[in-house]
Amino acid sequence: MSVVLRDLSDRILLLTIHRPEKLNALNAEVVEALRGEFHAAKSDPAVGAVVLTGSGAKAFVAGADIAGFAGMGAAVARDFARRGQAVLDLLEGLGKPSIAAINGFALGGGLELAMACTLRIASKTARVGQPEVNLALIPGYGGTQRLTRLVGKGRALEMILTGDPVTAEEAHRIGLVNRVVEPEELLPAARALAEKICTKAPLAVKYAIDAVNHGLELPLSEALRLEADLFGLCAATSDMQEGVAAFLEKRSASFRGE
Ligand code: COA
Repeated sequence: MSVVLRDLSDRILLLTIHRPEKLNALNAEVVEALRGEFHAAKSDPAVGAVVLTGSGAKAFVAGADIAGFAGMGAAVARDFARRGQAVLDLLEGLGKPSIAAINGFALGGGLELAMACTLRIASKTARVGQPEVNLALIPGYGGTQRLTRLVGKGRALEMILTGDPVTAEEAHRIGLVNRVVEPEELLPAARALAEKICTKAPLAVKYAIDAVNHGLELPLSEALRLEADLFGLCAATSDMQEGVAAFLEKRSASFRGE
């Protein structure tokens, strides 16, 4: 059986990381399977949004597979980090929304995977953290950067330096997850959120994600220029004409991604 299960229905691609006996830890096979799925989803017009979750009730992803760390030298470790970062960059730059449905532990690479998603919903039972320091490591799949951007320097450093996981409620309080729901509500809530975004104009969604993600890397003046450029690109779409016409004609818009 594949280590990443896929289910595409109504334009929502549900990807389930499936290594429950190892709490869905990311070994090379899982990372490669995710790379293949993200690559395919990016160019597949049948996919409007991606929902990512973990198999079983206990874990979303309990981190990179620690078994692979033994005896890893500096060069191999650096390559390991760069390969994982590239897969998470692919997810972040999908050009369509992705939602992490965090069903349990999201630790280390698991939290890094969730943070590369556009949005995050957590089950009340979830625990999220960056425990790498306990292995005399630091996060290597983007955690030092995406966590800091999501929750701010002070909270990020506290989580990274103590290695302590936080509850779903605390993750919500600090802006690390967008919502917390009952376990049985997790997938329906993630799907409903994905479906809602899928009713919007796909190019506006793509450009909004681009403006936020790329804008965060730029000085404000350049980020504002980027925003104006992407605003201009939106205005060049037939969907924008449709959205405005639909508003003026008091009907709902029908977007085509053009
Ligand atoms: N890599 C490899 N295997 C992992 C793993 C990881 N990141 N996380 C869990 N597992 C494995 C365990 O080794 C165990 O395998 P086994 O049954 O063959 O011994 C199995 O998953 C179940 O985990 P277990 O530790 O028995 O569950 P638990 O409920 O007692 O504890 C955690 C759950 C999440 C607290 C604990 O598994 C843990 O701390 N995992 C590592 C988290 C981590 O440091 N991640 C960052 C890596 S950089």
